[in-house]
Amino acid sequence: MAVNTPETIRVELGGRSYDVLVGAGLLDDIAQLAAPFLESHASRPVPIVADVNARAHHGARIEASLGAAGLEVAWYDVASGEASKSWASLERLTDWLLSLGITRSDHVFALGGGVVGDLVGFASAILKRGCGFVQLPTTLLSQVDSSVGGKTAINTSAGKNMIGAFHQPSLVLADTDSLATLPDREMRAGYAEVIKYGLLGDAEFFAWLEANSRAVLDREPEPLEYAIATSIRAKARIVAEDERETSGVRALLNLGHTFGHALEAETGFSDRLLHGEAVALGMVLAARYSARRGEISDTDASRAATAIGASGLPKQITALGLTCNGETLVDHMRHDKKMEGSGTLPFLLLKGLGEAYMARDVELSDVAAFLDKELA
Ligand code: GLY
Repeated sequence: MAVNTPETIRVELGGRSYDVLVGAGLLDDIAQLAAPFLESHASRPVPIVADVNARAHHGARIEASLGAAGLEVAWYDVASGEASKSWASLERLTDWLLSLGITRSDHVFALGGGVVGDLVGFASAILKRGCGFVQLPTTLLSQVDSSVGGKTAINTSAGKNMIGAFHQPSLVLADTDSLATLPDREMRAGYAEVIKYGLLGDAEFFAWLEANSRAVLDREPEPLEYAIATSIRAKARIVAEDERETSGVRALLNLGHTFGHALEAETGFSDRLLHGEAVALGMVLAARYSARRGEISDTDASRAATAIGASGLPKQITALGLTCNGETLVDHMRHDKKMEGSGTLPFLLLKGLGEAYMARDVELSDVAAFLDKELA
């Protein structure tokens, strides 16, 4: 069945450039849309590594498209959840890929959310010193963030994403239909990253989201596609400017993540607080802390909190029922990968709604005092 013409966003990275396609029903047409990356599989099955739920929901339509093109699939199932981003699952996956005889000119397909994308991306980065991979993100969070930009990683006992590589995919197919089966809570968690693009660099988009959050969260096709494509365009621009996060531009994507990471650590990286929910609350705290420093008005900080709260995301730290103090949260921040050798932690703060910047003069003792007030 023909699909609507997808929107194509190019991530411009010289020889590592690639397209991100956004639209409804793309997985039904995967054989055509990913044709250049399937050529080497004419006589061997296409390796698709899939989150078990994503395969249950979308496996049949992928098989139908590939089958009609005369291609077979070799499926590899990955359990949902961060535990799958481990050394043990990386070893099992790379053993499986080697057993299939994957060559450097082959492509491995990753179907699911950020866990599968990060795991497959990293496996592809190291398999025979690097083979190709294609991202088929099925969650809002992975469509607007993790599938684009080439950050790949696994977790270790030292923390999340501690071992990884920059390895760009060859293609990303963001099928908006796949969001129809996404639980509402995960949809909202992904939406936090959408709001992030407005807050960090696009005041007009932020204002559009203030007016259209319900339509996006209800998955109305046009607003949904607009929100996803606008987010991916922003990410593509940032990644093209600072692929390896060296100039400070890509670091803007971490808005809300330093506060958020501390909250995730305090809640044990558990279902108690999803990553996107932590980022949402982290952005409220970044806005309120920016207001404390006099960089934005209290009204703007409230506007950010209202937009986040109105989409059903947490906007007050007290809602988490934490029993810790500000210093405990700051201690989690001290273990952040972004902590610099000099003992400073760069903070993403706001100069305005739609204008994030990296502050290097933040005293962690002041952050602890601020958090004590927020926790009271
Ligand atoms: N998720 C942040 C980045 O891709 O840089």
